[in-house]
Amino acid sequence: MVTKALKSEYTFNHEKIMVEAKTGAKRKLIDYRVTPPRPYNTKKVPGNVWNFNRVRFKMEEYENHPTQKPEALLERIILASSNENDIVLDPFGGSFTTSAVAQRLGRRSISIDLNPEFFKIGIRRLQLVKEYNREKIVKIKKRKTNNKSRKDHIIDSRNILNLDNWGRVNEKTN
Ligand SMILES: C[S@@+](CC[C@H](N)C(=O)[O-])C[C@H]1O[C@@H](n2cnc3c(N)ncnc32)[C@H](O)[C@@H]1O
Repeated sequence: MVTKALKSEYTFNHEKIMVEAKTGAKRKLIDYRVTPPRPYNTKKVPGNVWNFNRVRFKMEEYENHPTQKPEALLERIILASSNENDIVLDPFGGSFTTSAVAQRLGRRSISIDLNPEFFKIGIRRLQLVKEYNREKIVKIKKRKTNNKSRKDHIIDSRNILNLDNWGRVNEKTN
């Protein structure tokens, strides 16, 4: 149970993570639930459901880890719940997204991972070392799934049907 006294020790920097409030403000409505009535706020604290794009292969932040989290997600969590120079701990670091973002935001951090391959990704990502066990650490970019992008599907179907970029039958080869 969280008592009132304990609760006051939590860090919650709500002002650092405000998002656009679409309803009401966008339609320039007046909020009559408050006294005196005033225009709806244009910013709000994010609700219970957060939407972030997954990390895609072509993105700079992409790492070779099967469940890598988006930096934008960690940024919101770290900004809201810590201050500069605080220590952020992630005991299941994976590709060390938490530490990478913590570093960028001026926090100190500790990330731990059981798997040496992920640990290697992490120390490279944080630019802590260039070598591990006397081997140079290089960024390995490999797709996590064999699923094709929409663009790849379009290219494939053009090739199968022998169509040009405009969807016409390619006459040069027919
Ligand atoms: C969900 S992933 C974390 C992904 C991470 N947030 C990222 O953005 O890449 C969980 C990680 O915890 C690691 N792990 C699982 N059990 C562990 C343990 N007992 N101690 C340390 N790491 C562990 C796994 O190797 C895996 O990389």
